[in-house]
Amino acid sequence: MKDINTARTDFPILAREVNGKPLVYLDNAATMQKPQAVIDAVSRVYTDYNSNIHRGTHFLSNVCTGEFENAREKIQKFINARNSYEIIFTRGTTEAINLVANTFGDNFLSEDDEVIVSELEHHSNIVPWQLLRERKGIKLKVIPLNEDGELVLDEYYGMLNEKTRLVAVAHVSNALGTVNPVKEIIEAAHKMNAKVLIDGAQAVHHFPVDMRELDADFYVFSGHKLYGPTGIGVLYGKEELLNKMPPWHGGGEMIKNVTFEKTTYNELPFRFEAGTPDYAGAIGLGAAVDYLSSYSWEDIVGYEKELLDYATEKLSAIDGLKIYGTAEKKSGVVSFLVGKIHPYDMGVMLDKLGIAVRTGHHCAQPVMDRYGIPGTVRASFAIYNTKEEVDKLVDGIEKVKKIFG
Ligand code: ALA
Repeated sequence: MKDINTARTDFPILAREVNGKPLVYLDNAATMQKPQAVIDAVSRVYTDYNSNIHRGTHFLSNVCTGEFENAREKIQKFINARNSYEIIFTRGTTEAINLVANTFGDNFLSEDDEVIVSELEHHSNIVPWQLLRERKGIKLKVIPLNEDGELVLDEYYGMLNEKTRLVAVAHVSNALGTVNPVKEIIEAAHKMNAKVLIDGAQAVHHFPVDMRELDADFYVFSGHKLYGPTGIGVLYGKEELLNKMPPWHGGGEMIKNVTFEKTTYNELPFRFEAGTPDYAGAIGLGAAVDYLSSYSWEDIVGYEKELLDYATEKLSAIDGLKIYGTAEKKSGVVSFLVGKIHPYDMGVMLDKLGIAVRTGHHCAQPVMDRYGIPGTVRASFAIYNTKEEVDKLVDGIEKVKKIFG
């Protein structure tokens, strides 16, 4: 296993300067930087063996197809899915959720059926269900948050009934960092025969997730947040469910036979992968999984916890700084406001010091409404961040405070 303390040297972008200062990249929940191994893997596709997959009889197409399917198997192992054909490549988390809403939702849910989401969801796990509500007349219920940013589970248990068909919640909140008790959530839903979709976009790179242990019906995540390329993501679905779901996008690759009278569809996973997929992205994602797997989970979880605890302690000590999201179980994110300084102003001033944070509502407006704020400043962490970078953030915030009096 590689030494986690050397991870930083694998990411070429981290050596650059921004505004004349060494880059301090603390916007990892928005997207992760890429290790050289991922950049090389994508580059190799185009320099060595680029060719469309699953179509050609020729050498390059066979190599490219092999690498693409190999990437699928790497992802299967990474999340301990039973079968590689339960891994569907999508453009990302958003597309994966929309796929489930449009196929499972449109075909198995009808008027007055209930879908439960939570108050801490990203918009991508809210809006597809609202669109489904417009199409099918389903009811949407929302698990509330307590002041610490944790789901109020008793309210959730009270919402479940025989009309509940699907529960769709995040594994980790992108805005607050809360780690949700998804195993309990899944178990309770299954007792009512409801299916569960877990949005793992902010989870899969921070701690191990195991499909056989969790027993989620659907689990979705994005490549770019997993140290991989943009434009590629994953829908994991249980075989028996995916097999019952009709296709969403029509086109090449997803068919068995096409006539003007009747078209029959391909088997899993191809039935849900219409058109030429982002095979370079998928192969890059496979390389990202290999990269992350070169460290032990114990080291990744331990190192990131140390960093998050350090950041929480140092930021809390700043006079006038309030942290939003103080759940007992957190991962990767500290969201905060400083006095009356607008988060956007804080973000712009920190950028002048070379420090990248995200500001605003983080595509989770209901979370901001819950606290009655327009947005927060969010620092989010990866394996390559250091305590020195946290110190620079703290110094930066103190400087901004002085400027704003
Ligand atoms: N969902 C990403 C974030 O939280 C973009 O920043």
